[in-house]
Amino acid sequence: MSDADAGRQLEAHTLHFAKERHAPVARRPLPPHHLARPRHLGSHRLNNAAQDRLGVKRAHPARLYDYILGGKTNYPADRRGAGAAIEAFPDAIVAARQNRNFMHRATRWAVQEHGIRQFLDIGTGVPTEPNLHQVAQAHRPDARVVYVDNDPIVLTHARALLTGNDAGRTAYVDADVRDPDRILERAAATLDFGEPVALSLIALLHFITDADEPHRLVAHLMDRLPPGSTLAVSHGTEDFDPPTMRRLAEVCRAQGIELALRIRAETQAFFEHSSPALELVAPGLVATHEWRPTLARVGVPQLPGTVGRAEAAVWAGVGVKS
Ligand SMILES: C[S@@+](CC[C@H](N)C(=O)[O-])C[C@H]1O[C@@H](n2cnc3c(N)ncnc32)[C@H](O)[C@@H]1O
Repeated sequence: MSDADAGRQLEAHTLHFAKERHAPVARRPLPPHHLARPRHLGSHRLNNAAQDRLGVKRAHPARLYDYILGGKTNYPADRRGAGAAIEAFPDAIVAARQNRNFMHRATRWAVQEHGIRQFLDIGTGVPTEPNLHQVAQAHRPDARVVYVDNDPIVLTHARALLTGNDAGRTAYVDADVRDPDRILERAAATLDFGEPVALSLIALLHFITDADEPHRLVAHLMDRLPPGSTLAVSHGTEDFDPPTMRRLAEVCRAQGIELALRIRAETQAFFEHSSPALELVAPGLVATHEWRPTLARVGVPQLPGTVGRAEAAVWAGVGVKS
């Protein structure tokens, strides 16, 4: 079976769940039995070859994160992995939601306050509404968005991301952040690199170990973007609760996921390696829930004091290229 056939088989059997998946996650409270609820979307409908090609026999960050956010695009291995991760880090659901909310606010800031209309989002994840293009195009209908991910399952769901409008455009590139030239080349079909671009690396870089030189990769991408471009990064850290996050990293390693948690200085360095170095906008590098909470969507307020740094567990910041 080819990759395309495996993808089609998967897509056919996930379409049943599309309606439910499209309910906005922010407004969909997790039932108390969320983690124990039996799932009907499972590997039993994929044959063995498709399971191998799509890598669903092992936990994968995109699907594990989807499960933690209450999504349906996940498999038994992902759910087992998520269960173990939540046992190690019981606030994983809070952290995932705060991370997603940071993405919404950073996107809103880029459009409304920085006047950006082009986005390059690498490490997109399984579609979860509102997706980045929906946030951007709600304020700026002509916004253009290129999504990039290396997970074959995210690829099969890309269609849900390509729901632009007449003025704006949305595209999907199947690529690995470790191949930045391929990303830039493919993104150029949709984005005009003569105009500022908001590069969005949300909860991605902690999956890139030092051996792959993540700081060099980010600098390479930013160096190709014109002045006025921005970089939004969120990154898992053990700074706020070292024992818990070390336990989480061990659990992930046992699932085959290498988690490169980085301390504040290492995360800040993502803004400093490009030429010129980026200027962090206020409030600088902070925990996800602390980044411009007042930009929260009306109806989903960020309640002060409801989340602590140890629960958020993720650094977040936005830098601008001068
Ligand atoms: C935790 S999810 C984050 C999704 C989304 N950015 C968010 O924050 O809501 C991490 C995503 O990064 C993707 N990813 C991991 N390693 C990658 C790589 N080397 N190249 C491209 N994408 C990658 C995974 O497939 C997954 O979709």
